[in-house]
Amino acid sequence: MNMYDIISKTKRGIELTAEEIKMMIDGYVKKQIPDYQLSAWLMAVCFNSLTEEETLALTLSMRDSGDVVDLTGISGVTVDKHSTGGVGDKTSLIIGPVVAACGVSVPKMSGKGLGHTGGTIDKLESIPGCQTQVSFEKFIEYINKTGFSIVSQSGNLVPADKLLYALRDVTATVDSIPLICSSIMSKKLAMGADCILLDVKMGSGAFMKNTDDACRLAELMVKVGKDAGKKCMAVVTDMDIPLGKAIGNTLEVIEATDILKGRDKGRLYELCMELSAYMLMLAGKGTKEQCLKLAQEAIDTGRALEVFERSVAQQGGDTSFINDYSLLDTATVRYDVCSVSEGYITKMDSEVIGKASLALGAGRVTKESSIDYTAGILLEKEYGEYVNKGEKLMTLITSTKCDIEDISQKLIDTIEISENKPQIRPVVLKTVE
Ligand code: URA
Repeated sequence: MNMYDIISKTKRGIELTAEEIKMMIDGYVKKQIPDYQLSAWLMAVCFNSLTEEETLALTLSMRDSGDVVDLTGISGVTVDKHSTGGVGDKTSLIIGPVVAACGVSVPKMSGKGLGHTGGTIDKLESIPGCQTQVSFEKFIEYINKTGFSIVSQSGNLVPADKLLYALRDVTATVDSIPLICSSIMSKKLAMGADCILLDVKMGSGAFMKNTDDACRLAELMVKVGKDAGKKCMAVVTDMDIPLGKAIGNTLEVIEATDILKGRDKGRLYELCMELSAYMLMLAGKGTKEQCLKLAQEAIDTGRALEVFERSVAQQGGDTSFINDYSLLDTATVRYDVCSVSEGYITKMDSEVIGKASLALGAGRVTKESSIDYTAGILLEKEYGEYVNKGEKLMTLITSTKCDIEDISQKLIDTIEISENKPQIRPVVLKTVE
């Protein structure tokens, strides 16, 4: 079987064998198969999809294209969480310490952010001195000491995904459920945790724009994870509105710290408690209700904040900011975005807000771009809240040269205000066990 026949089979909807898929992935990584042939196959997948068996074979071939992390040096059960990317998503900084404070290890390897969704590594690196490039031995040592650490992904983890993702990005083949599933699950499986919680974001600013697609992706990822021998669960969560009140690296570290201090018990806290409870359930800590209680206690007793502080310190970070946020770098420009009418906020588009934050300097346009850790947006009003004309909706914050008035206008143009109070959806829209 050659690559021409493989493309032809997928084009005609004929199932590929696991051997054919492995041959294709190995051949592509070894540069024996050219980009144009793989692009043609990816496009055939976008039109004809893949079966569950094909998706599993693709995921495993991708996982095995590089190193598979051995976490057996960590004592006890390990749990990982993956979010499919969101605006203002700082949940990893909160739930890692919460779950670790309940006695379950959370070893996390993460990437830098690209485009309008932020990366957890960037948030951590906005803390003065905090190192995320650490040796594997140190990473295991950190987890065994505090139960929680987030470090940068090692160089040779799933090279097939790096190559395939770059190709998908320029051939309009990103938005295929089996391709997204294999991309995410190959990385999660290579990272070696015993249990995996998948947070599939749905809405504006997320890959999945509607609940049906988000549920299909969630179900497929859980099936692949279980078939690969992991304990696996997924939740579909709302990304039509940004997560929390802060978007941008330093601002999100402050917001996460406030949640860990128990100062903010809003929607972000609620989501973090749900995600932590599911992670604890996967690790065998009890029923959903028991695990929810454990997670809440970890915040209320200050144990989760302690884990966070020790984890930042062991990675070289200066933890004095926890008691004095002014010790973090602050921006030079603050700009108020005010409402042009009165009524209830019925739309606050996550993707537009994410892109505005990117334009303020908080994210990377290309992999090589530098980042302004101080930049971002503070949402002064939430979705569903009542505002008066002229009242402040958001504060734009930056130290980067940018056209702030234009950014503000684009935000105002997309915020919808109406007479009727909108329905607020629950944070977790669906659970796939
Ligand atoms: N995130 C990934 O890692 N891969 C995809 O294909 C989509 C989102």
